[in-house]
Amino acid sequence: MPALIVIDRSGVEHSLEAEPGHTVMETIRDAGFDDLLALCGGCCSCATCHVHVDPRFAGLLSAIGADESDLLDSSDHRDERSRLSCQLRVTPELSGLRVAIAAED
Ligand code: FES
Repeated sequence: MPALIVIDRSGVEHSLEAEPGHTVMETIRDAGFDDLLALCGGCCSCATCHVHVDPRFAGLLSAIGADESDLLDSSDHRDERSRLSCQLRVTPELSGLRVAIAAED
């Protein structure tokens, strides 16, 4: 099963097992992280699942969508590594993916 490395807001690193086909948001949420609210449940309308993705994985990610980009624009913490974790689907190729939960807006 692919591994997902999550860095929480206090800087602590956690290794999770991720189910292919699930989203990165679902994997983090289901592991019980309070840092990641994911208020809209993954329908790309809240931006509370914002993460910063390790740039080494950038080329393996799905392209950012217009809705996702618009929502990320509402964050004061957006940078070139920003993604909404509900829009990132776990695949075997992404094993070892490292994401940091973004600061709260
Ligand atoms: S969970 Fe709401 S945008 Fe990702």
